[in-house]
Amino acid sequence: MPEIKIKGGKRLSGELCIQGAKNSVLPVLAGTLLCDGECIVHNCPEISDVDISLKILNFLGCGCKREGNTVRVDTSGMNNDEIPDSLMREMRSSVVFLGAILGRTGKAVISNPGGCELGPRPIDIHLSSLEKMGVSIKEEHGLLYCTAENGLKGADIYLSFPSVGATENIILAAALAKGKTVIHNAAREPEISDLADFLNSAGARIYGCGSDYIEVYGVERLNSTQHTIIPDRIVAATYMAAAAVTGGDITLCNVMPSHMVSTLSVFRESGCIIDPHGKSIVFKSPERLKRVPTVRSLVYPGFPTDAGPIIIAMLTVANGTSVFVENIFESRYKYTDELKRFGAKIKTEGKVAVVEGVERLSATAGKCTDLRGGAALILAALAAEGESEIGEIQHILRGYEDITGNLLRIGADIKLD
Ligand code: EPZ
Repeated sequence: MPEIKIKGGKRLSGELCIQGAKNSVLPVLAGTLLCDGECIVHNCPEISDVDISLKILNFLGCGCKREGNTVRVDTSGMNNDEIPDSLMREMRSSVVFLGAILGRTGKAVISNPGGCELGPRPIDIHLSSLEKMGVSIKEEHGLLYCTAENGLKGADIYLSFPSVGATENIILAAALAKGKTVIHNAAREPEISDLADFLNSAGARIYGCGSDYIEVYGVERLNSTQHTIIPDRIVAATYMAAAAVTGGDITLCNVMPSHMVSTLSVFRESGCIIDPHGKSIVFKSPERLKRVPTVRSLVYPGFPTDAGPIIIAMLTVANGTSVFVENIFESRYKYTDELKRFGAKIKTEGKVAVVEGVERLSATAGKCTDLRGGAALILAALAAEGESEIGEIQHILRGYEDITGNLLRIGADIKLD
């Protein structure tokens, strides 16, 4: 696997268009399984998590065609309801295909995705919700055999935690189920509303997404449809932070400022000037970033956990000490050991990371531990004096389309080597 090489200290400036949201396109691609015929998905990012999703759809017997940022999925040939362990292992979030396969065929076999680099990530909420909809689930040798003998039926479901994936899986299973499904304490992320918009454009009856109370009235069938994926709010935050750590300024187009209120407020607190205009943001960084006393990750519309590594990397060069509290995942600080190799002063204890800002980071060789942790290393390398090398970049390529090309376009001295 190649490495990313960066000569830091260059001020970034220019304009970037933001890719479609990874965490929206994955459930939408799963949702195509519920539609008859061919669906067309626009603004689909060219990232490896999408490649894996298309591999899964192919394995299930669907025809998939990618034309740049447009993907066509024809599910008329679907002839399988099992996702092989190899593909499940490649992408933990493939669990979101479970609800769609069940919704289409009434049965599914997947391997238990288990934990990941962010800590144990059970799917107990997914499974208990699907059982309420009439699915029986047997686990044997790490495989989950799921069947809905009499078809899926609507249910009244309360989520013990507003899980994004579980909310999506229930919506996907409920769209063609018999009767009404209600989700109490549902996740409110914009990606869930995007999934509902896609399914409703195909004839589904899903109401209340964006709130914690969602109703789905099952319908007989869904037609083929076209859909454009919303912009990726975490990728947008990443490029803003890249400008911020280099004292630069950028204009982002194809963004949704209304999806980023909590994130923009933290950038403003650190002294950045943010001017949202419709679907673009004009971003200017201060001479020196200010510390942000406390940032807490929360479920939407709180500060997004995925932007945690991005903000922490940015605050390593702020003036003063900032505190970050990670409330969503159990161990999301592995990447901070790599940040310390750049000279960052970070102490972590359980959910808390204390970041003491330094004047300047110094170039080094770092290794990505996960997707957003990898993006944090790129930010550190952009801020550091000298040439850095970043390895294990497959983590970054899962969620960032052409990150080296984009950073090059706004003045970074960066190459894939
Ligand atoms: C989605 O993951 C995103 N992934 C994550 O983005 C994001 O960090 C997360 O939501 C929170 O916003 C995709 O959408 C593909 P959860 P998901 O279910 O659905 C616990 C990125 O960087 N939990 O809301 O897996 C779980 O262990 C990725 O793009 C259970 O205990 O998140 C975790 O601690 C990383 N049981 C917490 O809830 C369950 O059945 C949040 O999980 C489900 C979840």
